[in-house]
Amino acid sequence: MHHFDYRDGVLHCEGVSLADIAARHGTPAYVYSRATIERHYDVFKAAFAPRTVLIAYAVKANSNLAVLAALAARGAGADTVSAGEIVRALKAGVPPERIIFSGVGKTESEIEFACANAIHQINVESIAELDMVEAVARRAHARPGVAIRVNPAIGAGAHGKISTGGEDAKFGVSPQDALALYARAARSSHLKAQGLAVHIGSQIRDLSPLAEAFGVVRRMAEQLRGEGMGVERLDLGGGLGVPYFNEPDPPPPAEYAAMVERAFAGMDIDLAFEPGRLIVANAGILLSRVIRVQTRAAAPILVVDAAMNDLIRPAMYDAYHDIQPVREADRGAARAAMDVVGPICETGDTFARARPLPPLAAGDLVAFMTAGAYGSVMSSTY
Ligand code: LLP
Repeated sequence: MHHFDYRDGVLHCEGVSLADIAARHGTPAYVYSRATIERHYDVFKAAFAPRTVLIAYAVKANSNLAVLAALAARGAGADTVSAGEIVRALKAGVPPERIIFSGVGKTESEIEFACANAIHQINVESIAELDMVEAVARRAHARPGVAIRVNPAIGAGAHGKISTGGEDAKFGVSPQDALALYARAARSSHLKAQGLAVHIGSQIRDLSPLAEAFGVVRRMAEQLRGEGMGVERLDLGGGLGVPYFNEPDPPPPAEYAAMVERAFAGMDIDLAFEPGRLIVANAGILLSRVIRVQTRAAAPILVVDAAMNDLIRPAMYDAYHDIQPVREADRGAARAAMDVVGPICETGDTFARARPLPPLAAGDLVAFMTAGAYGSVMSSTY
């Protein structure tokens, strides 16, 4: 569900014509629907009702300040992986007590910054990192809340490059090491050991690896509690996929939430989630203008003014993005297969091969759909 639809034959974002946006602001341009973002946040939150959960939106998916502010106003927290992302979240109005700091590369000064801002939780990903967090906390006379990120050796996700839970992934520590690290954190007078965290991948369309990973985390939390340690929270990460329309749809948030309830049935514990893609993916489009159509013996080439530096997902992950003409095609218009490319001098600058599209000509506008997550944030000046 999203708020991009045709009105009087022109694709609109909520009430605004994309043709008007292109005329006023030029192309290529990212356009986001606030209503879609708010709707997705609300649906995800409602899926867990009556349980109250912390939804720490994964800032990496789209760190646009207006996007963050819309979510902050809704009560969202933020999952961050750098001091820069923490600054953006704070600036957008996310209170520190809803900010989680994840990632394998936290530097000393970033940890100092997190402690100084008394954020909700630092997700510690290694033994060396725990040492650093403890040393910084001691110096700063702070006592940050920490969770240990477990790598359950269960990978999932649409592409090898976005699976994070496999045994050889750089993320988190093994369940065995996590138990030992947690015990260390629990003994430290400079740390508040609060929970465990897990995130196994992105664009996940099958709930079973998630359920399996959550089972691992539950058993670990029970073991720690059995050994007399307090475990107040579990951070279950993000990863739930969205429809891109080249594959079967992922399960909806309600099914995901039901699976979570089954996984933690009868357990008294606070839950947090870090959805990114689910909240913003189809709330954004990349608006682009056709520069020319090159005919040749094979499929014609549609050259557009957006390129791999604007939206790298097709080049990097062979990702599929639906392409819609801004001026609605005539009903029954024949579709012809076209290669859709950008102006960059690399073969990789190809958005789609042999994509069936209605007639398009130089000057026409197209929208790359479902581009709100990992679109603009991964862009470059190449
Ligand atoms: N939490 C952690 C610790 C993460 O590493 C990620 C994503 C998320 C949450 C949010 O996951 P999501 O709900 O968005 O799946 N650039 C890739 C996706 C990389 C995901 C990285 N981590 C893409 O364009 O598909």
